[in-house]
Amino acid sequence: MYKAGDDVSLSFDRHRRLRTTPSMRRMVRETKLHKEDFIYPIFVMDGTDIQNPVASMPGVYQWSLDRVDEEVQDAVDKGIESLILFGVPASKDAVGSSAYDENGIVQRALRQIKSNHPQLNLIADTCLCQFTDHGHCGVVENGEIKNDESLDLLVQTAVSQAEAGADIIAPSNMMDGFTAAIRQGLDDAGYVHVPVMSYSVKYASAFYGPFRDAAHSSPQSGDRKTYQMDPANRLEALREAESDEAEGADFFIVKPALSYLDIIRDVRDRHHKPVVAYNVSGEYSMIKAASAQGWIDEQAVVMEKLTSMKRAGADLILTYFAKDAAVWLDEA
Ligand code: PBG
Repeated sequence: MYKAGDDVSLSFDRHRRLRTTPSMRRMVRETKLHKEDFIYPIFVMDGTDIQNPVASMPGVYQWSLDRVDEEVQDAVDKGIESLILFGVPASKDAVGSSAYDENGIVQRALRQIKSNHPQLNLIADTCLCQFTDHGHCGVVENGEIKNDESLDLLVQTAVSQAEAGADIIAPSNMMDGFTAAIRQGLDDAGYVHVPVMSYSVKYASAFYGPFRDAAHSSPQSGDRKTYQMDPANRLEALREAESDEAEGADFFIVKPALSYLDIIRDVRDRHHKPVVAYNVSGEYSMIKAASAQGWIDEQAVVMEKLTSMKRAGADLILTYFAKDAAVWLDEA
């Protein structure tokens, strides 16, 4: 039994030695965030003079193309090097034609942003749900979301995005075989060097709610559970990632991030290509809501969360906090 004054210094480790000063803590810090880790999402929409606040995502806007450069320039000024574009089209139909129209909102945005900022990594989200009137990510027949029938449309979308200047294609639709089909389609069209950042592991998550407000992409009937994954499954995530490896994905996205840090770690340990954590809309909005109430310290919470994604094994983080975090890194 220990008594005050006993010499116990040899019987335990003094972990606190490495925590004594800020510079000592920085020296031994294992996980560090960098601006180049971040991918910043931008919502582009048809129309003019639009900077439309997304109610459920304070600080996030829908932009028309005549105004979007304000947002792009702000991100560039803060040191962001990678953007992902989400389109909110003026018209929708059953087969999502505006997704693969060469004059679609995303294609026009890609051409414009690429010509103004050729140095950026411009990523195109490749999906149909914002462009279909039923809001599903594939073709629907008699209430069924058809797999193989959807692939051709996704390939057309990806190729038209590459033609418009996308540096990276990020298919998020979760049809089986989409990575293989898109890789093949890009190669056939001469875009051998355009990488595929596949949403390899995408769960049917309740955390996407605010995004669906921002992108007008809610399914009009049913849900996405026949194509997105069951949150309870880990082995299935490994199978999805294995398929994507075999199909030629260049990056693996795990989405959402925070409730799936174990999956990020699993994918990191098994694959040797960059892993992207998608810090989704609901994860953003919860922090915004709590900090607006004064219940949490927004900056500290955001940096802790982003750090946790990297510690779990993510190389890159797709996050609505990218601009803020870039500024906070400069201030640190
Ligand atoms: C759909 C898509 C979704 C997100 C990005 N692309 C959500 C969905 O399945 O409805 C969600 C992103 C977010 O919540 O931040 N292809």
